[in-house]
Amino acid sequence: MKLDRRNFLIAASTATMATRIKAEVIKESIQKHGLADAFVGDYHVGAAVSTDTILSEDKPTLKLLEREFSSITAENCQKWEEVHPSEDSWNWSASDKFVDFGEQNNKHILGHALVWHSQIPSSVFQDKAGDTVSASVLRRRMENHIGTLVGRYKGRVHTWDVVNEAVSDDGYDDWRPSAWFQILGNRYMEEAFNLARQADPNAELLYNDYNMHYPQKREFLVGVFKDYLDRGVPLDGVGFQAHYMLDDPELEQIEKSIDAYSALGLPIHITELDVDVLPKAFEYMGAEISTNFEYSDKLNPYPTELPDILQEKLASRYEKLFGLFSKHQDRIKRVTLWGVSDADSWKNNWPVRGRTNYPLLFDRQLNPKLAYTRLMNLKR
Ligand code: XIL
Repeated sequence: MKLDRRNFLIAASTATMATRIKAEVIKESIQKHGLADAFVGDYHVGAAVSTDTILSEDKPTLKLLEREFSSITAENCQKWEEVHPSEDSWNWSASDKFVDFGEQNNKHILGHALVWHSQIPSSVFQDKAGDTVSASVLRRRMENHIGTLVGRYKGRVHTWDVVNEAVSDDGYDDWRPSAWFQILGNRYMEEAFNLARQADPNAELLYNDYNMHYPQKREFLVGVFKDYLDRGVPLDGVGFQAHYMLDDPELEQIEKSIDAYSALGLPIHITELDVDVLPKAFEYMGAEISTNFEYSDKLNPYPTELPDILQEKLASRYEKLFGLFSKHQDRIKRVTLWGVSDADSWKNNWPVRGRTNYPLLFDRQLNPKLAYTRLMNLKR
């Protein structure tokens, strides 16, 4: 074709159009391909979903979940006090919607948490007169709770946090003296796993806890898990909550724990990742949710915006953590963030109420933060 002025203009406008279309396609593919797509060869990347997001059908947050994450965890809506507030009453509204949303969007769905000492009515451990129930009564209640909840979502919820935080905060080398333990002894834990397996033989069953990198805790739990595996207790994997700080724990400690638990042949799930950027209120390093410290302005230094230097530190911390997880991608099945954006993080209220924290990958307007860009760059 002779390139006269007319043909040139046509060719030029076609080229411009092609460039425009290409730009749109690229934009769209960036939008379609979120964080979980970038890490698809390594592990699921998930987020916890709040009861409010589910019940209010918060569109922007749900859209972001759809695009960026391949797995979702029930942040609160399947905890005993929310889903089973009294012996004969069940509240399925948020939980059902959560599971429906996961199914409609093809997500790996996590149920959280069946047996735990927190967020459970004290009446579970008492009779009508307020006295402590016998072992057989409590066992029946646990059977009913697990059977009903896991049974309802049989074949739909893929993974359950069966027992949460069973280790003592005092020395980290023994069972937590919870009501479960006091009434049933340490066998309550394996009974919970057996009941969950009975209720859904195909669901994956996890033990979940914080400070999994503490050497004493690691030693204690490795002993318990070894015994379980020897005796055929149906434990399928280990959850590290991973409520971390900017500089603590060190990567080396985390890596040692990945090695120790996965040496038993158990896959690791990073179940509740976030990075606290605020000053430490105390020396206690756990995540026991009843802990609470008094607010002061000194403990809340960035009420409007996170300074660039900390944004950079946060990004680099996330980059290193995901770098470590990807190094061990053959042992890590999932990395879940505990919340979607800084606006809905529990870290704004724990361990001190009313602070402004910045622990996640999306800001309060749901825009990706520098940390998000760094993670995407790890995979480019
Ligand atoms: C937190 C929720 O994020 C909060 O909304 C709630 O008020 C308290 O519990 N370890 C766990 C999670 O296993 O269930 C906790 O979630 C955080 C610590």
